[in-house]
Amino acid sequence: MKLPVLSLSKSLKGKRIFLRVDWNVPLKGAFAAEDSLKMTRSFATIEELSKRGAVVLVATHLGRPEGWDEDLSTAKLLPKVMAAKGPKVHFLGQGLDKQEGLKKAVKEIESAKPGSIFLLENVRFYAGEEKNDVKLAKAYASLADIFVNDAFASSHRKHASVVGIAGQLPHFAGPTLIQEVVALGKLLDKPKKPYLAIIGGAKLTTKLPAIEALLKVADRVLIGGAMAHAFYAAKKWEIGKSYIEKEGIAAARKMLKNPKIGLPADGVAAKKVEPGAKAWSVNVAKLKKSEAIGDIGPVTMREWSEEIRKAKTIVWNGPLGVADIPAFSHGSMVICRAMAARSMGKAYGVVGGGDTLPVVLRSGMEEWFDHISTGGGAMLEFITKKGKLPGLTCLTSK
Ligand code: 3PG
Repeated sequence: MKLPVLSLSKSLKGKRIFLRVDWNVPLKGAFAAEDSLKMTRSFATIEELSKRGAVVLVATHLGRPEGWDEDLSTAKLLPKVMAAKGPKVHFLGQGLDKQEGLKKAVKEIESAKPGSIFLLENVRFYAGEEKNDVKLAKAYASLADIFVNDAFASSHRKHASVVGIAGQLPHFAGPTLIQEVVALGKLLDKPKKPYLAIIGGAKLTTKLPAIEALLKVADRVLIGGAMAHAFYAAKKWEIGKSYIEKEGIAAARKMLKNPKIGLPADGVAAKKVEPGAKAWSVNVAKLKKSEAIGDIGPVTMREWSEEIRKAKTIVWNGPLGVADIPAFSHGSMVICRAMAARSMGKAYGVVGGGDTLPVVLRSGMEEWFDHISTGGGAMLEFITKKGKLPGLTCLTSK
């Protein structure tokens, strides 16, 4: 897919740019490095546009509010932008879906100096955003001359600030969006074989379309995390107190005979998967009723590392255990390190997903991967839909 790129060789003086970013980051707690990746990657884009004299209107969603919710106001992101040493942004207002609010915003933007940067209110506060409402898209468009999408992680959403606005303004793909599309595109376009996919996480049903798509192109799909428990249940094995998404069992049953699927041979178990729990390794085929699986076990770590060692293309999305509890984090970390060591040369290695990034950043080996995607759902949908995400295809039409 050939995406239109905004030429930065010319001055953008006085041009008002509606820049969609994805700053959907957790607001609570300390500002963690994995939160900042989505933000920091877009800082360079914002600074470049501002340097060329554009008035930059930064738009993002934050959380999944149902209407106005002060706790999810993008104003709460300003300290995070500062903490991450981002550009100086002014919070611009709300009420873009009402004449009065829109007029006020237009006036403020018109009197802004070239290079000014404004942060718009959470686009999901507007009822029309998720409905891709044309009226709202026109309201956004009335603020700007150009639309730039630099929000790969939101590009699977057919929303007004991602798709609708592209129908109203000259539109372009931002640099980090292009970077994601090029890097993930290599997983679709004649990937080198053996092609290994490692998919973890809790719920099989949410990742099922991506797993089915991967089974068509990859040579091997390793399933970790609590998703694997649906497969054990489909085999009628005891899963004890392990977390299970019951809805996933039927889908797992259909895939059981597929020789490309690899399941963990062993696990790390405890009486309860919780911080401070005493943990031990178990044969997953012989789990006791009183046990719960929290991670892949040492045999699986060795076997999967061996598969990684032979692969020439590797994609990983989703932790393989409860990675934020130290006793159940080893599987994800071992696989992360094995993959990092194989990437950038021996194999083409791409990792992504909101819960996977903390593991990658904790490993300190983030520079060793060919690409770290900021997209969770967007990365999986990119694979499933062969790159045809609504937020990308809309940029290719005139
Ligand atoms: C993400 O965090 O994956 C993106 O920001 C998309 O968020 P959403 O699933 O709420 O659309």
